[in-house]
Amino acid sequence: MFAKVNSMGLFGMKSFPVSTEIDISKNLPRFDIVGLPDTSVSESKSRVQSAIKNCRFRFYEWRTTVNLAPADIRKEGPVYDLPIFVAYLLATGQLSCDTKDMAFIGELSLDGIVRKVNGVLSMVICARDNGIKEVFIPADNAAEASVVNNITVYPVRNTNELVDHLAGRNRLTPCSKEDYADKSCDEFAYLDFADVKGQYHVKRALEIAAAGGHNTLLIGPPGSGKSMLAKRLPSILPDMTFEESLETTEIYSVAGQLPSGVSLITKRPYRSPHHTVSTAGLSGGGRIPHPGELSLAHNGVLFLDELPEFSRVAMETMRQPVEDGIITISRVSGTLTYPCETMLVCAMNPCPCGYYGHPTKECTCPKGAPVKYLSKVSGPLLDRLDIHVEVPQVDFKKLSDDEKGEPSAVIRERVNAARKIQQKRFEGTSIKCNAKMTPAMTREFCKLDERQKAFLEKSFEKLGLSARAYDKILRVARTIADLDGDENIQLAHLTEAVQYRSLDRKFWR
Ligand SMILES: Nc1ncnc2c1ncn2[C@@H]1O[C@H](COP(=O)(O)OP(=O)(O)O)[C@@H](O)[C@H]1O
Ligand SMILES: [Mg+2]
Ligand SMILES: [Zn+2]
Repeated sequence: MFAKVNSMGLFGMKSFPVSTEIDISKNLPRFDIVGLPDTSVSESKSRVQSAIKNCRFRFYEWRTTVNLAPADIRKEGPVYDLPIFVAYLLATGQLSCDTKDMAFIGELSLDGIVRKVNGVLSMVICARDNGIKEVFIPADNAAEASVVNNITVYPVRNTNELVDHLAGRNRLTPCSKEDYADKSCDEFAYLDFADVKGQYHVKRALEIAAAGGHNTLLIGPPGSGKSMLAKRLPSILPDMTFEESLETTEIYSVAGQLPSGVSLITKRPYRSPHHTVSTAGLSGGGRIPHPGELSLAHNGVLFLDELPEFSRVAMETMRQPVEDGIITISRVSGTLTYPCETMLVCAMNPCPCGYYGHPTKECTCPKGAPVKYLSKVSGPLLDRLDIHVEVPQVDFKKLSDDEKGEPSAVIRERVNAARKIQQKRFEGTSIKCNAKMTPAMTREFCKLDERQKAFLEKSFEKLGLSARAYDKILRVARTIADLDGDENIQLAHLTEAVQYRSLDRKFWR
């Protein structure tokens, strides 16, 4: 007795069709799963067996072989429970229907409840792209699957419900986008810059950072509002496009971190991993691979608070992905990638006690401590930060008066306008913003006249700027000019850009 049903597998972010074949013969009782299953797949047999017995169906003490094809890709996770279950009923004649255009995805509990699994969004998209017309998924995954067009998605709560549907007795209701339309993702509800009093120059720096996609470092004493400012950065980034939303949602789906009932993440994510985070926690991986913090911040903001406290290894791990927007993880079963286009914002105290350079509090650190503290930050990572800005303790009067700061919505308007200019500039290339300009582009789009060149040269001498600061200053100046709607970089833009290189001067070197 033989049957075959379609399912979907997942490797990293990539889904692929899996054919679940079952063969049952009247031999000595045995139940095998072949086709490169990992342990979580092998455990399927006990779950499926129990579900069959506990749901009024008959389990035969015969020889049963399940093959998950193609056999050369490792199968991970419990998603094959449901297709194995359906294939078993078909093979034993307990169910009869044509499943050619259908696919099944889901884990089973011992009593036949269909359990939520990770990565359903990617799998449903893949099913559609492979010509599947109807896909059966766990009811708890319905929200994310509802956004996929041109495929009928049936949310399933338990096996009895599914069998009734397939036998034509009691039809299931397909899910639709409209069911989840008003459930937006509160998890990333934006905080507003209007709450931040004073700190005009820091807000200005963050506006520039948002406008050009520049990675930024905030340096200041404890309580000066660094975390408060960083948390508000997503609120001034441009609205997410549908494509960006889909990409970010796929990552949360694969990570199993999509909040319940949310169909699409429409707000830019903000992630702030603690400095004790493991490298796997940052970049992803694990036994059943899952995306890490870098990818969970895809299309959003990754905030690293207390930057010097992160381990060297963690900093080294982040450098390449931050540069490339993609993480590559090597595994025995192959190489997988996760996207991580993210804006990096870091914060640090100027010294271990936090009060170096503070107007009223005294620094209790030994001489040379600030330099030593900064040297804990990996040079190559520091090199990825275009804008350095000092966040001084704001004075009490400014904090206590009732005047509200400029709302994020107003700042975002300006950011959007500057991004539009960049979109036009980089049309037809893979570059999205000024921060990502190649050296050749920097030469082309950041032309300086003689007076400006002379100014830069003098600044380099006077402030002792390092050579690597040169292109960064040009790119940041380009963004400042874009915010001004100016086609050419002006001297004022250049002067401002030079100010955002705090670490290249003063006591830090
Ligand atoms: N500019 C500011 N406007 C309003 N409140 C502020 C400001 N700066 C600091 N605060 C208050 O101080 C608290 C501590 O700031 P926080 O962002 O945690 O500082 P840091 O991260 O630099 O240590 C904030 O939660 C906020 O209540
Ligand atoms: Mg803080
Ligand atoms: Zn100190």
